[in-house]
Amino acid sequence: MRNSTKTRVKLLMNEMTSSPHPFGATRQRQDAQPEPVSAPALRAEVRNLDFWYGATHTLKSVSMAVVDCKVTAVIGASGCGKSTLLRCFNRMHDLYPGNRYAGEIQLYPEDRNLIEMDPGMVRLRIGMVFQKPNPFPKSIFENVAAGLRVRGVNGKSLLYERVEQALRGAALWDEAKDRLHDSAYGLSGGQQQRLCIARALAPQPDILLLDEPTSALDPIATAKIEDLLTVLRNTVTVVIVTHNMQQAARISDFTAYMHLGKLVEYGVTEKVFTTPQSPLTNDYITGRFG
Ligand SMILES: Nc1ncnc2c1ncn2[C@@H]1O[C@H](COP(=O)(O)OP(=O)(O)OP(=O)(O)O)[C@@H](O)[C@H]1O
Ligand SMILES: [Mg+2]
Repeated sequence: MRNSTKTRVKLLMNEMTSSPHPFGATRQRQDAQPEPVSAPALRAEVRNLDFWYGATHTLKSVSMAVVDCKVTAVIGASGCGKSTLLRCFNRMHDLYPGNRYAGEIQLYPEDRNLIEMDPGMVRLRIGMVFQKPNPFPKSIFENVAAGLRVRGVNGKSLLYERVEQALRGAALWDEAKDRLHDSAYGLSGGQQQRLCIARALAPQPDILLLDEPTSALDPIATAKIEDLLTVLRNTVTVVIVTHNMQQAARISDFTAYMHLGKLVEYGVTEKVFTTPQSPLTNDYITGRFG
């Protein structure tokens, strides 16, 4: 981890435990004591984010950091708002009428609020993988190439290069290299999910969002995806929702615990799991709740 990231995250941790508005407080502290933030230590920063499905207020003043090239796990009981939060990052809610956001998700290094950006542009930059693998009814190659073509990558050799790189990145190359032009539906469920990860990785997204990517998979396929995440964790910024506490503890660097639409706790994964600051987090991770 870069030094500036360490410092920034340490500040965030300190403030999370002492202030209900960690980021505002962090900013004040930084203003008072200018800290050179030369490199983009954070890839994104959620600040006082609210979200409504019609009249239903679902996310309530959520603030959390997304550290660059690290894995952030979002945990919490069913219905607490994990998927809703994830879908704010790629503005998927904008596809349906009546949904409303307030607050910010600041993207770094350009320091822009993605809630105010064009949703189509945001979706080109933030990749997402869902619980159930959803390959397109196309070949393995075309599944991965699709996102590249949309972004204007058309040269045959460049496309091949980028498809191979993404399939290797998703640990699927060895199993797929001799059947690149076969239908993606011929792959197993676990292979299809790695294909979806390759498809999302190919355009080199700013952030890769994973919503319970292993919950529909068997233990062997799950282990492959977890291995893959441990490889990706230093090169790609990942936000993953998981119900599996062991998985969150194994694969993430930071953990955010949500309860009833609010972010209760955010911190270094090891600390959240060993010395949670909130009794609510403690009850959840020890299985007393949820
Ligand atoms: N499209 C929607 N329209 C209206 N309400 C919704 C919609 N999607 C989710 N909700 C509600 O918003 C709340 C948060 O749902 P969300 O799917 O974010 O929870 P979650 O933490 O991801 O749960 P799970 O672990 O079961 O996937 C729930 O009360 C849910 O019923
Ligand atoms: Mg969900």
